[in-house]
Amino acid sequence: MNTAAWIKKGSDSLTNEYPAFDKLKKEIVEYQITSQNLHSLTKILSKMKKIANKPSLISAAYSVRDYYVSINDVYLQIFGKHLMLHYPYYQKDFESLEKRQQNLTDYCLSYVDGMADKNLLEVGCGNGTQSLYIADIRSPQKITGIDLNPDNISIALHNKARQQNVEFYVDDAQKLETISDHSIDLLICIESAFHYPHKELFLKQISRVLKPTGKFVIADIVNIFPNRKYLSKGWKNKMAFNHWMESDYMASFAGSGLKIGYSENITSHIIHGYQGSSKWVRRVNFRSWINYLGYRLYAVVHTGYNTNMLKNRENYILFVGSPEKN
Ligand SMILES: C[S@@+](CC[C@H](N)C(=O)[O-])C[C@H]1O[C@@H](n2cnc3c(N)ncnc32)[C@H](O)[C@@H]1O
Repeated sequence: MNTAAWIKKGSDSLTNEYPAFDKLKKEIVEYQITSQNLHSLTKILSKMKKIANKPSLISAAYSVRDYYVSINDVYLQIFGKHLMLHYPYYQKDFESLEKRQQNLTDYCLSYVDGMADKNLLEVGCGNGTQSLYIADIRSPQKITGIDLNPDNISIALHNKARQQNVEFYVDDAQKLETISDHSIDLLICIESAFHYPHKELFLKQISRVLKPTGKFVIADIVNIFPNRKYLSKGWKNKMAFNHWMESDYMASFAGSGLKIGYSENITSHIIHGYQGSSKWVRRVNFRSWINYLGYRLYAVVHTGYNTNMLKNRENYILFVGSPEKN
């Protein structure tokens, strides 16, 4: 059943009770999701609380902490394990979400040489899945992951049992208090910096913790236009949306003692990464049909919102650089 047919089947009964749902479902199908109707949709989803029987699905748009509780919960329910928390990167048709997320990590690391004797730092490591993946496939000497969100770090610590050379700490990217000066060979920060309100402090920290021969890779979502007035300020703060523009980055690297060796706009690969995403949520993983409906709707909204923003207002940029004196 395609997405439109599925939504029709699942939402006919809801339409009588919540008339606005009828209009919204058309917009969802066409991925025409804006911040305004996302707010309305969140309200409707709260009314569906009992139906979906999963409060964390509904609170995803309430705060950044709730969002990460929700997305971890969704991946665990759908895939039976924690996945990375970043967007998918297209390489070929019919890939799973997990494979497409690994593609993004692999692509970012393709700009980095061997890691056998390297000390790595992942800033904004989320639930640690990416650091553990890198430890598996690239065998660095050591990898440290830090994240501001203690919920994510506790998942990371729980999942790391099998890895000796991986450590996780709660820390702020703008302070990096757990990391010594000039101790890191490679710093990666994948899809986390858009949350930092003071990115210039983060760039100064990169300069402090990297060895003179070190390298950094930042993949970030940036705004195409100078401001995001279409998002309410209160909601932006709650979700910790603090996007820079690409030009802000370019203007700030030099002042932070860093230089850029390479940058690339990979937005089209990310948008394309959602291709086939309707197949990722499968009925077989759910006990009840109504529970399945809740998760499926969540996935449609999530995918629709992300792709809509990337098509109209945001770019996904990769920056590879090093200390200025390197
Ligand atoms: C989209 S997730 C990406 C996680 C991971 N890098 C990955 O690729 O799977 C963004 C992460 O940035 C973290 N974050 C937000 N603000 C932060 C800050 N100031 N310092 C450190 N981490 C932060 C969030 O808690 C979240 O885990």
